[in-house]
Amino acid sequence: MTEIKRRALMDKEAPNRSTAIVNGRSSNILNWDDVRFSWAYPKYKKMLGNFWTPFEINMGTDVKQFLDLTDEEKNTFKKIIGLLALLDSIQTDYAGKVADYLTDSSLNALMIILAQQEVIHNHSYSYILSSLVSKDEQDRIFDFWRTEPVLEKRNDFVLKGYKNFAENPTIDNMLDSIVYDVILEGLFFYSGFSFFYHLARNQKMVATSTMINYINRDEQLHVDLFVKIYKELLTEYPEYDTPERAERVQNIFREAAALEIEWANEVIGTKIDGLDVEDVEDYIYFYANVRCNQLGYDRPFEGYRKNPLKWIKAYEDVDLGKTDFFEQKSRQYVKVNVQDNGFDDL
Ligand SMILES: [Fe+2]
Ligand SMILES: [Fe+2]
Repeated sequence: MTEIKRRALMDKEAPNRSTAIVNGRSSNILNWDDVRFSWAYPKYKKMLGNFWTPFEINMGTDVKQFLDLTDEEKNTFKKIIGLLALLDSIQTDYAGKVADYLTDSSLNALMIILAQQEVIHNHSYSYILSSLVSKDEQDRIFDFWRTEPVLEKRNDFVLKGYKNFAENPTIDNMLDSIVYDVILEGLFFYSGFSFFYHLARNQKMVATSTMINYINRDEQLHVDLFVKIYKELLTEYPEYDTPERAERVQNIFREAAALEIEWANEVIGTKIDGLDVEDVEDYIYFYANVRCNQLGYDRPFEGYRKNPLKWIKAYEDVDLGKTDFFEQKSRQYVKVNVQDNGFDDL
């Protein structure tokens, strides 16, 4: 069991460019032109390019439309926002905890930006709810996680993985916690996303969906960042790259998919006109396969190689600037004039 030590605040004897991802030597001074991982600076630029805030989005039309949603739609809407608020809150803190153990000032910097984006995600849920419902109702929704049994099961599942690492920071536990992270950021949001994109596709609650779309876009970068850290850990500690680990990760994904499907049946089920829960289930299997494969392992579910909710693809592609579905002002917010110091061309 290799224990991981916290990064020192400063080390005069160590180089600025870190010597390893964990348990390495690093002065802790950040010079973006002298960092260990060539992908860190391009990732930094992308994360900054994603910058957005809820203030830019006008909720006016959503306020009117919310009244016309069916009771089931309203309920699902609230439950999903309640869930997302919980996940993003935990995520803010987890990012900081992982960051403490990375002996690389640039990866620590990326984690801080990631955590800041999670704070904005939480802001958006408060912003959405304060526009649509009373303060009492908003407070009630932010407390859903305390009382919803299906939610509790899913939260316990992720928290267990995070807690093991927080309490016992070993290589194995850090690797496992990253798997749970990829599930949180790359799978557990996805039935929620499908619901909001379903509304948007019917021209309903477009401002809310715009924020969900921005969140989705951020999460894709977050998943990729954690995948890179996971793979780097395995490169530096190849003795942990075993068939047993592969099997364990696949099993974690099987469990995660089952929990996400249970949740999808709870919030979507047969209640949402035009959104078939079986398609959402296939979508969950598909994403479980994608994420497990991103981490470098065989897909745990036979088949499920294609996204069954094709129309969501269009929304996800907005992330890449390929299309402009929502025509919100902030769509063009990506800064094109950020100075390129050429580092990523090296
Ligand atoms: Fe988030
Ligand atoms: Fe995230």
